[in-house]
Amino acid sequence: MTKKKKRDDFVWEQYTQEYYEEEMCDLIHGSRDTHKHDMLATDFTEKEGELVFNDDLHENWKEIYHQVYKLKVKSVFECGCGPAQHLINIHKTSPSVVVNGCDYSQSQIDLGYKYYKLDDYDFSGRLAVKDLTDSDGMDQLGTHEFVYTQAVIMHLSYKRAIKFLLNIKSLSTQYIFLIENPTCHDYDKLLRKALPEFERVDGENKYCPRAILLKRAA
Ligand SMILES: C[S@@+](CC[C@H](N)C(=O)[O-])C[C@H]1O[C@@H](n2cnc3c(N)ncnc32)[C@H](O)[C@@H]1O
Repeated sequence: MTKKKKRDDFVWEQYTQEYYEEEMCDLIHGSRDTHKHDMLATDFTEKEGELVFNDDLHENWKEIYHQVYKLKVKSVFECGCGPAQHLINIHKTSPSVVVNGCDYSQSQIDLGYKYYKLDDYDFSGRLAVKDLTDSDGMDQLGTHEFVYTQAVIMHLSYKRAIKFLLNIKSLSTQYIFLIENPTCHDYDKLLRKALPEFERVDGENKYCPRAILLKRAA
């Protein structure tokens, strides 16, 4: 049985400087322990209605872009977007989709300007700095068809994960998609408590079998 996580894994105010930027650079350049990855999608095509990637992108990331493409949603919102590389990749692979997102820290979004030329993308002006465990100001983030997280809820305490999910459901008109480490929380329990209005509809994942796709029940 998964124990309820008592504290967040990181102090988010210090996270970029103490941890994330170095780890990200290890992925970009490769290191003794880390295989070099592509961060941005540059070489992809469509085959039989699905995206085919030639870039060496992380499988979890490909699952996000694949789902957005396959579901033909018109708008997405990333909760905890970090440097916004996923939003850039969605913009590249599904150019008609309106992309939006927010992060707890401006320092995370700033990494997107530093490493991924985020200022080349109009949507960068809409990215917000927001703590999604705080319900104040959620109405300013709009509503979107496909609301997703990648590697965020897994790092939150159980109580803050509940608050986060309760808040982000107000952003979604249709789907919530979670790519998170399944061992960090009891997700069945968490989702029953926070998202009873949504039902699980995953089962056709292509790159990441553990990704959770939820759809607002009719
Ligand atoms: C492991 S990083 C993942 C970033 C990005 N999703 C990615 O895949 O590269 C976790 C991110 O969640 C953000 N975060 C943590 N708690 C948050 C909260 N309560 N509200 C909004 N963002 C949060 C952090 O600032 C950090 O950028």
